[in-house]
Amino acid sequence: MALKRVLSGVQPTGSLHLGNWLGAIRNWVELQKTHETYFCVVDLHAITVSQDPQLLAKNTLSTAALYIACGINPDISSIFVQSHISAHSELCWLLNCITPLNWMERMIQFKEKAIKQGDNVSIGLFNYPVLMAADILLYDTDLVPVGEDQKQHLELARNIAQQRVNSKYGTNEKPLLKVPEPLIMKQGAKIMSLVDGQNKMSKSDPSDFSRIGLLDSPELITKKIKKAKSDSYSGLEFNNPERPESDNLLGLYSIISGQSRDSVAKECNDISWGKFKLMLADATVNSLEPIQAKYQEIIKDDACLRQWINIGKEKAEEQAQTTLRRLKKALGMLPPQ
Ligand code: TYM
Repeated sequence: MALKRVLSGVQPTGSLHLGNWLGAIRNWVELQKTHETYFCVVDLHAITVSQDPQLLAKNTLSTAALYIACGINPDISSIFVQSHISAHSELCWLLNCITPLNWMERMIQFKEKAIKQGDNVSIGLFNYPVLMAADILLYDTDLVPVGEDQKQHLELARNIAQQRVNSKYGTNEKPLLKVPEPLIMKQGAKIMSLVDGQNKMSKSDPSDFSRIGLLDSPELITKKIKKAKSDSYSGLEFNNPERPESDNLLGLYSIISGQSRDSVAKECNDISWGKFKLMLADATVNSLEPIQAKYQEIIKDDACLRQWINIGKEKAEEQAQTTLRRLKKALGMLPPQ
């Protein structure tokens, strides 16, 4: 029986953080053992906001290296760069032409990002979810492992496939596009900022102290956790609406130390914030240490890394072209002879 297919991606904007790892990549590592997996570095999404071109190319490579350092095995998963496969942009255009404008106007992440951009909002930023739908639908994807913030975008991809493509151009027996399912972890799907427990940890937060980068040094990690926002209560606990920071940091500690929520809740129930922060810092440094060591090995060998990306591209492109041809034919594009 054919394996179910998984696709996901991260934008190469700045350095990846704990949220990207715990909310998404950690899950990919498990899925590659039982699924056919495609992981792209979504550089076309990155340029929906202004980027330094040299830095973008560098970050694209280092994001691919981090996938591998986090445990993605390039011998079994296809790791590729989104802009290397032009079918992503091409399918995006086809989907643009059949996606209702009012569906797009509901996208929460666009509204949040647009506010930050002021007068500088690009059409690409508005279109971002359609490109994401194209990424997913091109590969007849069954499952998309992402953090909580991507739920609405996944719903859009499902609606485009079902309501705008399959029901109009396909038949019940022969749907044109696979309708994907989101896969959102119970724990880690929404890691919050270190400086504000009500806001998610994000690459675009102007404060570097709001997040822990996967490549931050042990000293910096410890410093950031020591400075993280706390509250005036003593002891740590879950589920107290007045204590979002306690909930977030205790949750982080549970995932990173590999202990259950009940067990960390008991362990940290009456310890001081100071002591807890040192425990969390140690656990974080220890869990990132092997990833950082592997990353340093991979990033040194540019030729090998690029070869993996090329191999990933070959496999992904074949699948992408098959879907694209199918859709173009259904929409009435004249095939070349
Ligand atoms: P990006 O780069 O913003 O985020 C990459 C992944 O990390 C998850 N994530 C988080 N999870 C938990 N807590 C957080 N604080 C946190 N911040 C980010 C995101 O949910 C995501 O899974 N639009 C996507 C990239 C993309 C994509 C795709 C994903 C483009 N095409 C196709 C899946 C399939 C994004 O948010 O990237």
